[in-house]
Amino acid sequence: MSQPIPQPPGLPLLGNIKDIDPNNTWSSLKKLSEKYGEIFQIKVLGKTLLFVAGAALAEELCDEKRFRKFVGGPIVEIRYTVHDALFTAFDNEPSWGIAHRIISPKLSPSALSDSFNEMRDITSELLEKWKGLGVNNKITPLGDLNRLNIEATTANLFGKRLNALTGPEHPVIKAMEDATSEALKRPTRPGILNSLIYGGKLKSATKTLRSYAAELVQYRKDNPTDRRDLLDALLTAKDPETGKGLTESEVIDEIVSMPIGSSTTPCLLTSSILFLLQNPEVVATARQELDAVIGGGELQYEHLSQLKYIEGVMRESLRLSFPAPGFNIEPIPKEGDKSPVLLGGGKYQIAHNQAVIIVLAGVNRDPEVFEEPLAFKPERMMGESFDKLPAGVKKWFGNGKRQCIGKHWAVQFAMVALAKIIKEVDFEAVDADYKLEQDGWFNVRPVDFQAKVKPRDI
Ligand code: HEM
Repeated sequence: MSQPIPQPPGLPLLGNIKDIDPNNTWSSLKKLSEKYGEIFQIKVLGKTLLFVAGAALAEELCDEKRFRKFVGGPIVEIRYTVHDALFTAFDNEPSWGIAHRIISPKLSPSALSDSFNEMRDITSELLEKWKGLGVNNKITPLGDLNRLNIEATTANLFGKRLNALTGPEHPVIKAMEDATSEALKRPTRPGILNSLIYGGKLKSATKTLRSYAAELVQYRKDNPTDRRDLLDALLTAKDPETGKGLTESEVIDEIVSMPIGSSTTPCLLTSSILFLLQNPEVVATARQELDAVIGGGELQYEHLSQLKYIEGVMRESLRLSFPAPGFNIEPIPKEGDKSPVLLGGGKYQIAHNQAVIIVLAGVNRDPEVFEEPLAFKPERMMGESFDKLPAGVKKWFGNGKRQCIGKHWAVQFAMVALAKIIKEVDFEAVDADYKLEQDGWFNVRPVDFQAKVKPRDI
């Protein structure tokens, strides 16, 4: 006998509209997952939305023989901006395979050793800026790390320096926020309001994002180079399976998707800084490792694989801050079969076409898997302890064929940034009582977190 799926009591006709804050959807889902556990559903505008927040059920939904990525709601809305690019393509669109086969070799671990020096040197520029701020400074880590991210992503993948670490914030950062916030909010509003009142915001953000990408393409055409970077592959490579390349509009779709994807990395790094401030013993252990591996010199590519504790810090930060807060799954349709889909060996039943949203705030902190799930313990993310964790709690980068194509790039960049930040600077909290509060759209980030920064006191 299957069990009913828990649902908060709702209002007549309006359903659970009050359980979700449209300005902070992920925080509402985090609260619901804390209350209801591994699975829950809500009803909004007559539609059932189903959420999984437990590790075992999440792992089951990651079985690609039974389930696949669900492209619906906000992901369909952002197609206005990037069409059928990697992140937004429907399962049956051939564009996904063509782009995937062209792009993935450029973001593979072996290709990324070439990116190391650029990532490190651009990170050094931010650290020099921080070190030069003098006493009594106040920084917003997320703001500065957003700048670092757009600078490093654009330089490294597309070969152009924006000089975005200083001066006015680069317009792409606000445009990404406007486009993704609109994409998340549009499915919850009547269509007429979307087109009459809010249409302009998405339109203008899209224009900014696509102009940024078009300028990068034009810059490459005007400045031919030997760089064999991602932009080179987008413009010249042919898919080995079909022989097809990308049209210029498709190249722009994929370029725009990359900073939107990579905007999760500054959220991760900002959360790491907060966790490090709250756990000084972790900083001490991390510095012992950094001093033993790197000594007084500069971080080199060969050091990265030896920095196991820093890797633990990064993974534990991913677990506790879930910068990409979730992903959507649906049962693979079976011709003529509308029978319900069973989950948990029959414990729950869902409709054959029911989409499920995996809420990583629940999955990553599942008390069935983690002792003291809210504690920051890098050791559990290292060596055998990490290997023994169930696969369901390691889905920070999504699942299977639709998992994050920028995963290796993000990990390498986060390792470089964390190693250098911990090695070279000290932080002090501006508000010692600050507790992590998050908001966001396609990513979640610490809100209103500020710190003082100075060169490391050796
Ligand atoms: C900490 C950093 C990152 C996290 C946690 C993260 C997380 C994710 C997740 C969970 C997905 C799956 C989404 C889904 O199933 O709908 C995804 C997909 C994707 N990510 Fe990332 N990501 C990160 C960094 C990056 C970076 C640096 C890039 C680009 C350079 C990137 C580009 C993409 C793209 C293009 C997709 C779509 C892949 C596809 O469907 O084939 N991400 N990411």
